[in-house]
Amino acid sequence: MTRLVVGGLDHLGVVGAEAVIESLAASTQPVLGVATGSSPQPIYAELLRRRDELPLSSLLLFALDEYLGLEPGHPRSYRTELEDLLAHPLGLNTERLRTPDVGLPPEQASAEYEAQIAAAGGIDVQILGIGTNGHLAFNEPGSPLDSRTRAVRLDERTRIDNARFFDDPGQVPEWCITQGLATIMEAGRLVLIATGAAKAGILAAALHGPVGSEVPASVLQHHTDVLVLADEAAAAELP
Ligand code: GLP
Repeated sequence: MTRLVVGGLDHLGVVGAEAVIESLAASTQPVLGVATGSSPQPIYAELLRRRDELPLSSLLLFALDEYLGLEPGHPRSYRTELEDLLAHPLGLNTERLRTPDVGLPPEQASAEYEAQIAAAGGIDVQILGIGTNGHLAFNEPGSPLDSRTRAVRLDERTRIDNARFFDDPGQVPEWCITQGLATIMEAGRLVLIATGAAKAGILAAALHGPVGSEVPASVLQHHTDVLVLADEAAAAELP
């Protein structure tokens, strides 16, 4: 079942945070999957405001993806970004934030990450953005719908989209480790947030177009508990 909520960023943040809080409250080992990028910010801001409603004593955070090739502690690594955005403000010990171990060979790092997710009992609720090319996490177009955590070469479109976070576009890594589409689909609840006119076409394709690897986010149509949060601009092409 997919629920769509259209509204302003503050409202989307409140609805998204409430869905996250509800899913975590129902779990004996609460595990929140966290995304990077600009879109999830309203949800994170509301979660920080409502931190008293979060099971902080046992909460685990799992990143969707991580760049390969950045030195440890690089300010643009997703680990650093999520520590700054969530772990530190929530007062979580950073070992409660799990990210792929990019110091290992990618295949080993990927297998170990899948094992960590399984050992935690799976992800209760996964926050997601969507790339302008329809990627989910870093599952680029052409990603198999049954893919697992693995190393992926970033599309040039994605590198261009993400260059805004780097001092020099040439610094944007070419490779990453990403949770696979099948990995993401195993989460109990998915909360996708999309904002801005640039996401209108791809959001419509993801939610109402054919399900296939050309638009990896279309896999969401097969999940039983999806909350889609969109502002007016991103919802403009939805039926
Ligand atoms: C990156 C991330 C994705 C994110 C996407 C969209 O590629 N790996 O998880 O959904 O960017 O980012 P934004 O929300 O900034 O548009």
